[in-house]
Amino acid sequence: MSSSHTIRILGIETSCDETGVAVVEDGRILVNRVASQVDAHAVFGGVVPEIASREHLRVLGSLIRAVLKETGLACTDFSAVAVARGPGLLGSLLIGVNAAKGISLAADIPLIGIDHLKAHLLAVEFKKPLDYPALGLLVSGGHTHLYLIRSAVEFELLGRTLDDAAGEAFDKAAKVLNLPYPGGALIDALAQRARPDKKLFTRPYLDNTNLDFSFSGLKTAFANVVHDRPQLVFEDMTAAADIREGKGDLQEVAELCASFNWAVADTLRVKIERALKRLPQVRSLAAAGGVAANTMMRTMLADLAHEKGLPLHLPELSLCMDNAAMIALAGQRHFEAGLVHGLDMDAVPRGRPLPEDYKVLLKSQ
Ligand code: KG4
Ligand code: ZN
Repeated sequence: MSSSHTIRILGIETSCDETGVAVVEDGRILVNRVASQVDAHAVFGGVVPEIASREHLRVLGSLIRAVLKETGLACTDFSAVAVARGPGLLGSLLIGVNAAKGISLAADIPLIGIDHLKAHLLAVEFKKPLDYPALGLLVSGGHTHLYLIRSAVEFELLGRTLDDAAGEAFDKAAKVLNLPYPGGALIDALAQRARPDKKLFTRPYLDNTNLDFSFSGLKTAFANVVHDRPQLVFEDMTAAADIREGKGDLQEVAELCASFNWAVADTLRVKIERALKRLPQVRSLAAAGGVAANTMMRTMLADLAHEKGLPLHLPELSLCMDNAAMIALAGQRHFEAGLVHGLDMDAVPRGRPLPEDYKVLLKSQ
């Protein structure tokens, strides 16, 4: 189709509740489609794994077909197929991994299994290349990980949450207020309407020397405050629309959310600063995952990067949520490094480390 040097990757993402298919060509997005299942899970107040896998199974095939039609490409036109192989919901991952294996086999192109978390961070490279080594903060609904990123294919985990992820804390706070799942963005919208009371919540798990996090205590502290002020709980979930539009007199709950949001963001700031002090070789700061869309987080990161004289890399807002473009881009970086997988590649559920079980692709192949 185009020059033989073009690297064109088909990306597939099914690790949680978004079905994604994308095409990335030489680091540029040709198409990036996401079919969200949020509505199917909202009524349950969280992602139901069984429903998630079934939805992926129902939607993925036609989404791949639609993307091929839109780009005029056939499976044989790709350099490789990249798929999120973990961490995530096992049943969901298996749907994407199996589809990718089918394409790899049928089109005779390499299969590349991608770490979903690292892909979130690499998505910043759609804007501009990262300055390596970088310090990377991944803050999503399921994970809070701090990495030293030596290159696009070499990540070292420096710290992680010991219990709830930052996004989980936001979602649980939203649930306590009777807001629909996932409520992080609603807490953000409310927080923007008030100034935080920095004395209301203790920033959690700072009294140590490590780079790990713990957010479950903060979530409980939030629930306790709301328990004492039941008037702050929204009567029904239709409040979400008003919050998004900035309507209503919500000063007290807005201040509560701002205080909570500040405690999360400032805790992350302290640990990032601690890591930077220990790693003077770091040349840039990157953050990604759903919570990197948070307004206070973005301000905190921008201020910190400015203070330290480091460039800050954040993905486009549209690429903060789960998507397949980030999987395809990570796939491209692995393909460039000659790292691919065999058809025996396993999917890895949440909580288990991903093995570095790549096979080296010889340049002549
Ligand atoms: O990365 P992501 O899309 O999915 C995974 O968890 O992999 O992250 C979703 C999480 C949810 O917890 C959601 O509430 C949170 O990101 N989130 C936010 C914001 N937007 C999304 N949390 C705080 N402020 C936001 N603006
Ligand atoms: Zn994610």
